[in-house]
This record gives sequence, C-alpha cells and structure tokens, in this order.
Amino acid sequence: MMTAEDVVKAIVEEDMLEAVTPFWDEAMAGMPDGPLPFLDPAAVIENRQWGGLEESLDASLLATAAYISADKALRCLAWYCYWRVFEAGRDNLATVPALKTLPGDMGSLFYLLIGMAMVPRLREYHRTLRIPEEITRTTAGQISCICGNYRRAHAGRPGVFINQLAWLRHIPAGGGMPLEACRDSLQQAADFFRKRFPERSPAAFCTVSWIFSPQLEQVLPRDSNMVKLQRELYLYPWPSISQSVWFIFFQNVFDPATAPRDTSLQRAVYDYLVDNRYWRNQAMFFLLDDLPEFGRQVYRSRVPAIVDTADKI
Ligand SMILES: CC(C)(COP(=O)(O)OP(=O)(O)OC[C@H]1O[C@@H](n2cnc3c(N)ncnc32)[C@H](O)[C@@H]1OP(=O)(O)O)[C@@H](O)C(=O)NCCC(=O)NCCS
Repeated sequence: MMTAEDVVKAIVEEDMLEAVTPFWDEAMAGMPDGPLPFLDPAAVIENRQWGGLEESLDASLLATAAYISADKALRCLAWYCYWRVFEAGRDNLATVPALKTLPGDMGSLFYLLIGMAMVPRLREYHRTLRIPEEITRTTAGQISCICGNYRRAHAGRPGVFINQLAWLRHIPAGGGMPLEACRDSLQQAADFFRKRFPERSPAAFCTVSWIFSPQLEQVLPRDSNMVKLQRELYLYPWPSISQSVWFIFFQNVFDPATAPRDTSLQRAVYDYLVDNRYWRNQAMFFLLDDLPEFGRQVYRSRVPAIVDTADKI
C-alpha cells in the first residue's frame, strides 16, 4: 500500500496532499489486491454502454484504464476516489489532483471512469428492488449527462466535474425539458412509486434548485421551458447560502470576467448578474393529486381563491 504522501509525490501534485489525506488509510484497507474491477476492460465497455456514452470513447477509456492499472500510484488514487465517492458515505470528495501530466485526455477520463463505476452498483441495487431494466438504464444515463456538462465547459472534451459525482440522483443535464416531457416524467415517477413502494404513499414532488429561482421569470422569455414549468409548480422561498450558478456557468461564484456566454440562458443570466445582483435558489412542490391538471397552472389559477379564503379567516 502506498501512503498519500507517496502518491502525490509520484503524480507530482504535492499540493494535493491535504485533499487526498482524509480517510486514506481506511480506503486503502479495502483496496483489492488484484485488478480494480471498474478498470477491467469488459467492465469499462459495459459501464460506458449503460452510461449512455458513445462507442467511439472505448479506445481512449480502455487506454486510460490500462494506464492507471499499470501505475501503482494512479491505481491507489483511482481506488481512493472510487472509495470516497461510493463507499465512504460521508464527506463528498471535493478537490482532486488535476492529473495534467497524464497523456492526452487521460487526466479527465480518469474521473469519468470513476463515475462510470456507478453502473454495477446501481444495477445491483435496482435488482434488489426489482426495478425494471429500462429504468436502470435511464438512471445510468445520468453519466452521459454529467459528461455533457463537462464537455460544454471544456470545448467538447470528455470528463466529469468532480462535484458532479455526488449528484447522481438529480435533474439530469441536457436541456430539452418541454412541459410535456415534464408531465410524462412526473406521471412515470408517480406510477413508479405507487407500484413499487405502495407503503410509502407519496403525496408530492418537492425539491430546491436554481431552476426554480423567481429570477428566471424575469430574465427568460415567457415561452421558455423553465418558465413554463415554474408556472405549473407551487414555488416558495428557500435560504440561498450560495449563488448556485454552477449549473449555468460551471463556476461556484459568478465571475463576469470569465463566465461563459455561449447559450441564450447564460447570456440572460449574465446580463442580470453583471449588475451586482445575486442568484437565488427557490423551492417547489407539486401534489400528486394535481397531476391530472398539470399544464393548467393549477396553483396560480387558485391564488385569487386562496387570497379570498385568507381574507375571510
Ligand atoms: C434543467 C434543464 C434540463 C432545463 O433545460 P431547458 O429549459 O429545456 O433548456 P432548453 O433546452 O430549452 O435550452 C434553452 C437555452 O438555454 C441553454 N441552456 C439550458 N440549460 C443550460 C445550462 N444548464 N447551462 C447553460 N445553458 C443552458 C440551452 O443551451 C439553450 O440555449 P440556446 O438558446 O443558445 O440554444 C437544463 O438547464 C440543464 O440541462 N441543466 C443542467 C442540469 C441541472 O441544472 N440540473 C438541476 C440541478 S439542481
């Protein structure tokens, strides 16, 4: 077993020692003696397919997996990252070595291989819940979504942002979220939970996100997908501890000097924030009982009635 010090020295990133020190010994204690399962060539191809990534990536993914397997320090680091993401169950992995000395795109593919290692774990978990394969495949497709985010920020090169590895159960990236697709998705989720988890009797969808920010209605056209979706939901305030613009600009703190302006959304939010404004998250819920009325702005249309009732109380 190599120590964290040995590894950061070997990859010439000594400044990363602090980042990889937490739980190092615990992670190493569980490291297999033989090949790492997620670097096995057959597993790489299978995970790539389930993850919804294109076949043309196989050659570079396999080359990267072989490169890591042949290098003691990289192998330890790969196991450490895998263990932190999937086994540790606490303290998300936030900072990792950039691996810029690796050839070509191998530095970023290193982390894509870690993300792809979700596939067998997900399949196993879904099997225990007897979830249909189609749903497992759609869920695993989140890997291509997070790779898509990385590509958008890196001129098309494949990889993953490390903070996204902990986001594997969120609203997938990719755009193209018209109201009909939202309705289908909510309906499928409602059917799924009613069928598979009847004992839980879910009552509502609820979440918090930048996509429910009240500011979107100010900066986007009325007919944009996200504004249309917002009008269908019951929105309510939520504390915004950070600007939460990462999903728009791939930066935690908005920096007008470097924030990209490639898409209409980026340009609209940019123009809004550049005047020293602050982006807010907001929360939403939508009651399952209201699903038949999705598309009719059920909560907004009820507002006058609610106000009227409140006046009478
Ligand atoms: C949430 C999401 C699916 C909504 O997409 P949508 O409203 O259907 O977006 P559209 O496909 O209609 O795109 C409209 C425009 O906004 C751009 N856009 C949409 N989401 C974007 C994003 N996250 N970052 C940058 N640009 C984005 C599109 O490129 C398009 O630009 P164009 O007009 O220049 O072609 C999309 O924003 C997305 O993929 N987000 C990333 C994942 C995410 O934010 N998850 C929530 C985590 S809490």
